[in-house]
Amino acid sequence: MEKFNNILPDLKKAKIRTKDQTIIKREIFDLPEQVKNLGVGRTYFLRTYGCQANERDSETIAGILEVMSFTKVDNEEDADVLFFNTCAIRKNAEDKVFGEIGMLKKLKRKNPDLIFALSGCMAQEESVVNTLLAKYPQVDLIFGTHNIHRLPYLLYNAMMSKEKTVEVYSEEGEIVENLPVSRFGKYKAWVNIMYGCDKFCTYCIVPYTRGKQRSRLMEDILEEIEELKREGYQEVCLLGQNVNAYGKDLGMEDGFAKLLEEVAKTNIPRIRFSTSHPRDFCENMVHVMKKYTNIMPSLHLPVQSGNNDILKIMGRGYTVEHYKHLYDLLKQEIPNITFSTDIIVGFPNETHEQFLDTLALVDYCKYDLAYTFIYSPRESTPAAKMVDNVPEEEKSKRLQMLNEKITYYSNLNNQKYLHKTLKVLVDGLSKKNKEVYSGYSEENKLVNFTGKNVEVGKIVEVYITEIKSYSLNGIVKEETDEQS
Ligand code: SAH
Ligand code: SF4
Ligand code: F3S
Repeated sequence: MEKFNNILPDLKKAKIRTKDQTIIKREIFDLPEQVKNLGVGRTYFLRTYGCQANERDSETIAGILEVMSFTKVDNEEDADVLFFNTCAIRKNAEDKVFGEIGMLKKLKRKNPDLIFALSGCMAQEESVVNTLLAKYPQVDLIFGTHNIHRLPYLLYNAMMSKEKTVEVYSEEGEIVENLPVSRFGKYKAWVNIMYGCDKFCTYCIVPYTRGKQRSRLMEDILEEIEELKREGYQEVCLLGQNVNAYGKDLGMEDGFAKLLEEVAKTNIPRIRFSTSHPRDFCENMVHVMKKYTNIMPSLHLPVQSGNNDILKIMGRGYTVEHYKHLYDLLKQEIPNITFSTDIIVGFPNETHEQFLDTLALVDYCKYDLAYTFIYSPRESTPAAKMVDNVPEEEKSKRLQMLNEKITYYSNLNNQKYLHKTLKVLVDGLSKKNKEVYSGYSEENKLVNFTGKNVEVGKIVEVYITEIKSYSLNGIVKEETDEQS
């Protein structure tokens, strides 16, 4: 039986980057009997915060728990073991988690045997773990992003010993292949192509919580996608913090363009990828995207700011001119491409004029969608040492101005789809209206539609009848044809 020692996180150690080659572990996932049977007659509830990397990690956590015979429940009150897989990207993300942990006290009082486990990026922060240990007795188990494979032993320890169990590695370890996975979707799958990030943008905590960049081998990724195809999956989204740098740590040149081409050749119907970094985006990538119709014409290309001085102090490694060049090239080669981005307002020292440059860039790129954020200082990052000197009120005003512009362009862009037909992968019934289906078009537009004989998981043609700011309404094509 594998032993467990209390290990607390250390962000200084997490910053270290070595040249060591990453070891890939491929052992078959196997557990001792008593650990494997821990979940017999027991239930778990899992809540995920943050990005797709965390979603995918949660699928592994769920997979491991199911191997251990735990049964999933959708309500925290029905659970014997509760998991929060957390995100540390901004302070408000963390505050939300702390608030929700606070509410667990009540559940614990009702069920003293309830085990509460916290994992993910917050677990990698020493200040968070210290606060949890000092002020939140309801937390039983803390593990991080690098040791999910250790979950069975950690949970066993927490349940059997009834002692607080904390094991967080600060340095990334091996890539562990063959971990169990319980995917949340039946037709769309997340596929990790790499872990970690070496970009160290000055505001960002991810390189500390996720460790150094480690690419999976191309053959392992392709094998996973072939398997997904056999299982009937229609869409894969290739995941990494900076997918365009895929393979650099394996000594590959243009690794992502090569990988993407091989993935396209598997003929899986739809391929998406996230997140692209403008700095590593090579022109070959544009050609591969253009060449294969199963690579979807939509790109998330975070810009963060439209001002070169701010980009420089953010450590982004590109200029506004480079970004626009890339944007122009993509638009020219793939005319139906749609763009989304991430933008931060109120970075230290950002002047009003510099913010106006960001608005001007939005006018240039006319994004279909943007995730916009107020800068939030993060522990141990270089930006946290700069004076956070833009007044809160000013930050909120900038965010509001930016959001108004983003909504304007989203709406404007959507107009061009009116009376057009889009190919939509059916996700299921809409959350709001149980007679309406919803899904995403190739361009990544959310489409709500009606129609007869609609099958979830199929790609259907939808005729667009109405435009909303962030979605489109329509009718399945056959039905319109019959009517006309
Ligand atoms: N790897 C991706 C994104 C990771 S985090 C990339 O490089 O684009 C997602 C987004 O959160 C970032 O693009 C950024 O816009 C935002 N973000 C990251 N750190 C932040 C911080 N300290 N304050 C505010 N927003 C932040
Ligand atoms: Fe963070 Fe920059 Fe890495 Fe993205 S590329 S995860 S913003 S450090
Ligand atoms: Fe959050 Fe960690 Fe993702 S900080 S955004 S969950 S990599």
